[in-house]
Amino acid sequence: MFDVLVTRVMVDEAMRALDGRCEVDVYTGPPEAIPYDEFRARAQGKHGLLTMVSDRVDAGLLDAAGPQLRIVANHAVGYDNIDVDECTRRGVMVANTPDVLTEATADLAWALILAAVRRIGEGDRFLRAKTPWIWGPRMMLGYDLYGKTLGIVGYGRIGQATARRAAGFGMRVIHHSRSGGHSFDDLVAQADVISVHAPLTPETRHLFSTKVFQRMKPTAVLVNTARGPLVDEVALAEALRGGEIFAAGLDVFEREPLVEAALLALENVTIVPHLGSATVETRTAMGLFAVENLLSGLHGERPRGLVNDVNEAR
Ligand code: GLV
Ligand code: GLV
Repeated sequence: MFDVLVTRVMVDEAMRALDGRCEVDVYTGPPEAIPYDEFRARAQGKHGLLTMVSDRVDAGLLDAAGPQLRIVANHAVGYDNIDVDECTRRGVMVANTPDVLTEATADLAWALILAAVRRIGEGDRFLRAKTPWIWGPRMMLGYDLYGKTLGIVGYGRIGQATARRAAGFGMRVIHHSRSGGHSFDDLVAQADVISVHAPLTPETRHLFSTKVFQRMKPTAVLVNTARGPLVDEVALAEALRGGEIFAAGLDVFEREPLVEAALLALENVTIVPHLGSATVETRTAMGLFAVENLLSGLHGERPRGLVNDVNEAR
């Protein structure tokens, strides 16, 4: 029987899919995410690792795991937490869970777009604070989406699914990606709403910085459901405070799980704790996909979500 480590308890259906298929060591905390040292210790001797976006899989971890390791199955579409080149060099397969979370993540991008542009979080906090109020023509005004321009940065599966939803809101869509579309500078200047869907790479780190915020419309809204470090959070807080842009919606953070204190102090940013794929249906599909990838890799088959080029018969 193969030995595997699962670094966080998945939904029941996904946990059950492992029953009887391998010897499973499940980290159950506390703390919620497995600390790196414990990750190293418990990875030792394992043939497969089923990991979360919060787990760093680097050379040190791979050293600790040992040469019998065959596959790292990430419970996510993004895999910037894994040193894929290092895995490839060692003949370790890396797999992700694309497609199954595309629609849920696009929904969350729209939840944040609407919340930011219509001040939903602010309104909710206002009422919970028992603030005396009465309907007024100038109260808590946002902006129309109808007739405006949505700029999609990163036009992969999730970016395209987010773009499709714009038709229902009567918005024009422009996009920027490595492979085409508008130039980034044009998009930034033209868009009323910018939604980010690019992967985190050395090139995309701090893609949104002070000089970009200065070029955005003062009425613009920025939404990030991709990866936190795409946005310079201190610069964003400055831009939001200074009225350089109108509002922002964030699902991901630069130093996750920490949220920049300057952002917490602002009303015009809506923040949620990395919920892009957090639906019952999607987390079930992701968990089952990650388990399928893991089992395929253990048995020397090509996982459906394989992202690196490893000779499986090494
Ligand atoms: C979550 O962030 C994912 O990449 O699936
Ligand atoms: C990323 O993998 C995406 O689906 O956009």
